[in-house]
Amino acid sequence: MTISLRDIAKKAGVSVGTASNVLNRPGIVSPETAKRVHQVIEELGYNPNGYVKQMSAGHSRTLGLVVPNVSNPFFAEVARGVEDAAAKKNYAVFICNTGESNQREERFMSVLIEQMVKGVLITPTSLKPAHIKMLKERGISVTLIDAAGKTSTECSVSVNDVRGGEIAIEHLASLHHTNIAWVCGPATIPQAADRSKGVAAAAKSHKLKISSITTATMTFAAGEEAVEQFLALENRPTAIFCANDLLALGMMRGLLARGIRIPDEVSIIGYDDIEFAPSAAVPLTSIAQPAYQLGTVAAQLLLSECEGIETHAHQEVNFQPELVVRNSTRDVASARAEAVVRREYAHLATSYFGSSAPA
Ligand code: RIB
Repeated sequence: MTISLRDIAKKAGVSVGTASNVLNRPGIVSPETAKRVHQVIEELGYNPNGYVKQMSAGHSRTLGLVVPNVSNPFFAEVARGVEDAAAKKNYAVFICNTGESNQREERFMSVLIEQMVKGVLITPTSLKPAHIKMLKERGISVTLIDAAGKTSTECSVSVNDVRGGEIAIEHLASLHHTNIAWVCGPATIPQAADRSKGVAAAAKSHKLKISSITTATMTFAAGEEAVEQFLALENRPTAIFCANDLLALGMMRGLLARGIRIPDEVSIIGYDDIEFAPSAAVPLTSIAQPAYQLGTVAAQLLLSECEGIETHAHQEVNFQPELVVRNSTRDVASARAEAVVRREYAHLATSYFGSSAPA
């Protein structure tokens, strides 16, 4: 006799719709109901196709990776690390791009439950404990990536962003910049907020003037838009620290388009050291994060929890950022001295050659 979904629903004491949701939209069904329906499926041997077998087995061999901006080369490198580690254990990876939207992040929790992923790696936009609870109730492990966590509840892999902010300001101070613009991104992004703490600490100890420019997102376009705010600053800063490389490259393009010379008139330093930083119009000085390692270590921690849950002990791994110096930052004294020489040469050349003076 062929077992139908109706038979399953009747024996489990639920509607056919609920039984169908258990198989197709488990994110909207309570764990208790799902468990009861799966027990009846196993008991009656209901299996219209291999998909149901995978469902009743609990989870597929897939992981979810939830990041705020998949077009940011930093997260592309994190994803590469996750996928390489997952592939070694024969897992596939669903990449979910939240676009820094809380609503999309919440929606992805249900989508990943429906896809029956085994574990989720997430760089939170505004991750609520209820989101993590929703996943864990369904046997889905969670590891925070690029975010410090509380090791009592899940693993986390992050970078010391407070120290990263300090290193950037200390570098500019070593080049005798005393008036610095800080293009800080939204304070709601934990990584940006921690970098701000580092900026404030280093500015206090070096007695520096910091002018903050807050952008709505941490994208290339936001960096270009921030140029107007920078140029409007009274007593214009001689250096700019941007909360990530996309902001820095956007500002660089906007300043160069206005004929402002980098680093002679203004130094710029970014954060991430993405693969395009060395090939920027002016090779970008940046604070490097080990993006690939963040991905591989986070995936390894998640998979060890997924596969050895009884022996697994949560870990909080924190990497240190590193300064990478390139052409976009320069000592303010030498830049000023060169500017004087340029102006003197231009004056002499014009008086000697007239308007046809060689550059
Ligand atoms: O998501 C914004 C930023 O946080 C990225 O550029 C990277 O720096 C991450 O840590």
